Amino acid sequence: MSTRVLTGITTTGTPHLGNYAGAIRPAIQASTQAGIDAFYFMADYHALIKCDDPARVARSRLELAATWLAAGLDPERVTFYRQSDIPEIPELCWLLTCVTAKGLMNRAHAYKASVDQNNAKGVDPDDGVTMGLFSYPILMAADILMFNANKVPVGRDQVQHLEMARDIAQRFNNLYGRDYFVLPEVVIEEDVATLPGLDGRKMSKSYNNTIPLFEGGSAAMRTAVMRIVTDSRQPGEPKDAESSHLYTLYRAFATPAESAAFRAQLETGLGWGDAKQALLDRLERDLAPMRERYNELIARPDRIEDILQAGAQKARKLATPLMQELREAVGLRKLAGAPGTGKSTAKKAGKAARFVSFRDSDGAFRFRLLGADGRELLLSRGFDNPKEAGARMQRLQGAAQDCLQPEGLAYLAVLDGELLAQGPEAADAAQRDALLEQARQALASLAG
Ligand code: TRP
Repeated sequence: MSTRVLTGITTTGTPHLGNYAGAIRPAIQASTQAGIDAFYFMADYHALIKCDDPARVARSRLELAATWLAAGLDPERVTFYRQSDIPEIPELCWLLTCVTAKGLMNRAHAYKASVDQNNAKGVDPDDGVTMGLFSYPILMAADILMFNANKVPVGRDQVQHLEMARDIAQRFNNLYGRDYFVLPEVVIEEDVATLPGLDGRKMSKSYNNTIPLFEGGSAAMRTAVMRIVTDSRQPGEPKDAESSHLYTLYRAFATPAESAAFRAQLETGLGWGDAKQALLDRLERDLAPMRERYNELIARPDRIEDILQAGAQKARKLATPLMQELREAVGLRKLAGAPGTGKSTAKKAGKAARFVSFRDSDGAFRFRLLGADGRELLLSRGFDNPKEAGARMQRLQGAAQDCLQPEGLAYLAVLDGELLAQGPEAADAAQRDALLEQARQALASLAG
């Protein structure tokens, strides 16, 4: 069985060295491994949250697509697409929005940071905050859940978004009684480089300290490298490689042996000017051939467009049927054939009663017994681990129907003196008895 790996990059700027070494290069590397089914995309809906300059969004999509391809992404092997070419993503985003607690979004770091800044400035806490920014994590959850990704490699700043995606997926699964979504796992690659920028802070367009990857050619790269901040030691004086960003940048592109040699040179007095030249030479060795491909690609946007359209088609082969299923699940169904019209649509959801297990928001493992119509008939107590929950579920499945007994307006499932689960609170005794009867029948059908 293969592992589906999915990640996206927001299209708001020109790709820089940090994007390449920190995200694009490791992603392409991963995509060549056996057993990996990679989905890489351009998060251009997300770009609209941060950027209202149409020309910049348009240009960034082109540059980023050309960069992925020039860097060696194989669109035959990887499902490579633009978020905005998959209409199912915003559609799913809405379904998820409707099950996401506002309180969960209140806790998102990006939103909280804006509020904190506003409070510090003494302006309205939500000043300048759009609903796009507020709901950003839900759109990201839709990106991920749409394709049932198992692993999502991201930077540290995105970890919370992944937790939210899991949360939202679980909530949807619980509400609609089936595991429609796989719970994605975050992957933080420890040995992947976070590159320092010109000033030593993390390389980022928001700090304006980036080294461009392909745009502007080798001249632009040289100009940037020459601006890397160093200490004031003169040629001939030993340098401390470990504390030098220049060395960190070099290491991100060199083999261990090359890095060791460079380090020794620095420690024995290599001048900073020569060191910068050595870094440039090393970068050029990897990047010059890619830059050539990049320039060819950028000159033929129609070809890139074809590749992306083919990628979208591949992605939608999965998105369209899942979305269809999800529409069914929430009740957005064809009127003909709906329950009450004489013809049942219950197909995959199953006409049979069933148990479903899940992890609750409090971290406990629980299960439900659902009737054939999807109605909740029992909700278990919380267990510490899935095994315990599973064992109880199994015992209940084989148990006699009289393990269910009325209690007030609800009913309880008790086995060997242990309270395992209880039924929903009914409006009156008659309704309770009807539910209890349904629950007993459900158990009987499962025992058989
Ligand atoms: N939010 C991510 C970032 O800024 C980009 C992104 C959007 C993403 N959707 C995603 C990453 C889905 C991984 C999976 O880096």
